[in-house]
Amino acid sequence: MVDDGMVVTPWEVSGDIDYEKLIKEFGTQPLTDVLIRRIEKESGEGHFMLRRKVFFSHRELDVLLKEHDEGKPWALYTGRGPSGNTHLGHMLPWIFTKYLQDAFKVHLYFQITDDEKFLCKPELSLEKTNKLAYENALDLIALGFNPKLTHIIVDTDYAKPLYKIALQVAKKVTTSSAKAIFGFTDETNIGMMFWPAMQAAPCFLPSVLEGRPVRTLIPAAIDQDPYWRIVRDVAPKLGYPKTAAIHNIFLPALEGPGKMSTTAGEHSTIFTTDTPKEVEQKIMKYAFSGGRGSVSEHREKGGVPEVDVSYQWLKIMFEPDDRRLKAIYDDYRSGKMLTGELKHILIDKVNAFLKKHQAEKERAKKNLDKFILKD
Ligand code: TYM
Repeated sequence: MVDDGMVVTPWEVSGDIDYEKLIKEFGTQPLTDVLIRRIEKESGEGHFMLRRKVFFSHRELDVLLKEHDEGKPWALYTGRGPSGNTHLGHMLPWIFTKYLQDAFKVHLYFQITDDEKFLCKPELSLEKTNKLAYENALDLIALGFNPKLTHIIVDTDYAKPLYKIALQVAKKVTTSSAKAIFGFTDETNIGMMFWPAMQAAPCFLPSVLEGRPVRTLIPAAIDQDPYWRIVRDVAPKLGYPKTAAIHNIFLPALEGPGKMSTTAGEHSTIFTTDTPKEVEQKIMKYAFSGGRGSVSEHREKGGVPEVDVSYQWLKIMFEPDDRRLKAIYDDYRSGKMLTGELKHILIDKVNAFLKKHQAEKERAKKNLDKFILKD
């Protein structure tokens, strides 16, 4: 969708994002407190990303949860496009997916799209995207997913089962609707025209593998939703359950206001491979501040947490404790806390997260094989 300077497509997100408008334009549902409580009941404890509406919208999550109560099977599905190193924004839906898997004890299918990134990035070879696929897979495994329930699909190495489903999908999608939904033009290569059918395929894979209807639930940022529209349109025509989705907002780029992404610039993005020094330098130098022009003005008027990227990162991903977050908000808002102090709180949090993550990623190397879905 491109509107009022806001762009949200699977390949580009920029501008000030109005999430309520996206719910209307995309035709999704806001995530209600009733649904949040229903998920929390299952897990025994809540998740701050639900409480704070980091996950803010859904498609037929209510239907999926009702079916869950009736004992019907379902599976999680999410993914990654390996165009470079994984950044912290990518990890956000995966962290929440892990919470859902632990709560509901369901299978997760995780698609890594080396084919997509080869097709849409002129500078990348297939060898490179395939290598990145296995490197990025370690970031998922490092989060502690259960190997018995988690199946990583590297597209070009699992092509046969996917291709058969993708063909069924592709036959039901016209060029004109692909153009309307994805903004494809006559310059788009024909590989990309077919691509949405490949991203749709894992939605139906659990049903194919288990030989019975298995609905999928996709936790992902709202940029991926155009795919699910196609999927939900073709599902009944192919005899599969319609996929459900739960959408997260974007972790903003350090310089704000759009999503963090590799195209937002290396300095505006923190990768899982960054060193503590790089994290510190990037946040100190680039994180957009809601502070005032001078210390005295800041003390007098207070900062603006709502626009401060460091505060937003703590709220969205790095400070799960509500009381501590509120104390930070109050101190920054009142002027007691300065921007430098706020940035240091974030730097410590991100570095603690990455220290553990990088150690787990090293350990994940020997377990990689347990997760890769083989044909
Ligand atoms: P990719 O690699 O662009 O993104 C991976 C996941 O990260 C989400 N995301 C973000 N979430 C929060 N803040 C951000 N700044 C941010 N940037 C990206 C994306 O929504 C996505 O969930 N084509 C896909 C790969 C894919 C996929 C899927 C993703 C294949 N099947 C199913 C989600 C669900 C891609 O290139 O994602």
